[in-house]
Amino acid sequence: MRTNDSDRGRTTGQLRDFARTRDLFEIPRGIVYFDGNSLGPLPRDAVEKVRRVMVDQWGHELVLAWNTAGWFAQPRRVGDRIARLIGAESGSVTMGDTLSIKVYQALASAIEMNPQRRVILSDVGNFPSDLYMAQGLISSLNQGHQLKLVTPERVEESIDTDVAILMLTEVDYRTGRRHDMARLTAKAHARGALVIWDLAHSVGAFPVDLASAGADFAVGCTYKFLNGGPGAPAFIYVAPRHAERARPALSGWMGHDKPFAFTKHYVAASGVERMRVGTPPVLALAALEASLDIWDQVDLDALRDRSIELGDLLIALVEGCCSQLRLVSPRVACERGSQVSFAFDRGYAAMQALIARGVIGDFRAPDIMRFGICPLYNGEEDIRKAAAAIDEVINGCVFSRPEYQVENAVT
Ligand SMILES: Cc1ncc(COP(=O)(O)O)c(C=O)c1O
Repeated sequence: MRTNDSDRGRTTGQLRDFARTRDLFEIPRGIVYFDGNSLGPLPRDAVEKVRRVMVDQWGHELVLAWNTAGWFAQPRRVGDRIARLIGAESGSVTMGDTLSIKVYQALASAIEMNPQRRVILSDVGNFPSDLYMAQGLISSLNQGHQLKLVTPERVEESIDTDVAILMLTEVDYRTGRRHDMARLTAKAHARGALVIWDLAHSVGAFPVDLASAGADFAVGCTYKFLNGGPGAPAFIYVAPRHAERARPALSGWMGHDKPFAFTKHYVAASGVERMRVGTPPVLALAALEASLDIWDQVDLDALRDRSIELGDLLIALVEGCCSQLRLVSPRVACERGSQVSFAFDRGYAAMQALIARGVIGDFRAPDIMRFGICPLYNGEEDIRKAAAAIDEVINGCVFSRPEYQVENAVT
């Protein structure tokens, strides 16, 4: 699943050595951070960047900043920077809203583009919000659509000529299992289906190549590996071949062809701009831009190679000391994203005990301990510290202590 030479322009960057990049992030001393697949850490420069946007632009230029500081064009500008990370054509990505909203938009447009069929195929490993959005849209449409869920292993054989839309998250949020995007997209197209990829756990984890895979739509968030901050805006990709005919279901004024003409009737803007909905989150996008100043430099192939080394090492060390933990991520590195997950029936309490020891990962019900790996700030020392802490917590039954049984709202 590595990119071929002709694609490398998209994935290469000067930053191939990650020994010093941890200093670009605000990570408290003594903390080993393995939760960048949930919320990436704060890029140090983001604080000053957002301050400047607040004071110099919002403060001094007031409403004029929509023009003078380029706020209006910001979603497109940031979208183009995301495009490099996901192998998308320039001008095919825009920003805004949350990922759930972008899933809804992509699905609503895709359903209209395949009007004879009624099956939306997904898998049981998809993120629940994607499935909930599909269920809600199906109810609103009331046209007999059906959400069909199969196991990840059965997706490929389930793509038949009834399928209108194949809607998948490339990397399973719990196990890290990665689908073969190019193969599944090709099969779906051969059977007359359109494909939507959720890249929440892909972007910033490894090179993605939407254009060469021929994806129809893609969506993703920017608060995980991209370090855009809590609630950072999502992105949506529409393949250029569809962009003039995909009808935006959420026809807000910012996706209008001429928003400031204030006409009474909606006319979709040209291209992916039509997927904008309302006023863009300027401050949140500014924080994301500070992180993209780092990401613009990153050689994604080198990042992926390092992520695999670190993931393999974590698996070897944990399996070497804790037979109680069962690896649920694929052992073969190219079949997983940038996370390693273990099942353990006391996983929630064990993760709380690790966090108390400065090793921050997270837990996903019913029994999965997740460790997201980002070579920009995780190195071999982190992996060794995490493995030692896991050894202590599991083999010393530290997880049984009462203080680790208290359930927080966010796990
Ligand atoms: C794969 C996937 N899809 C969708 C979502 C929902 O994203 P949001 O809360 O930004 O709508 C998440 C959140 O973590 C996710 O991991």
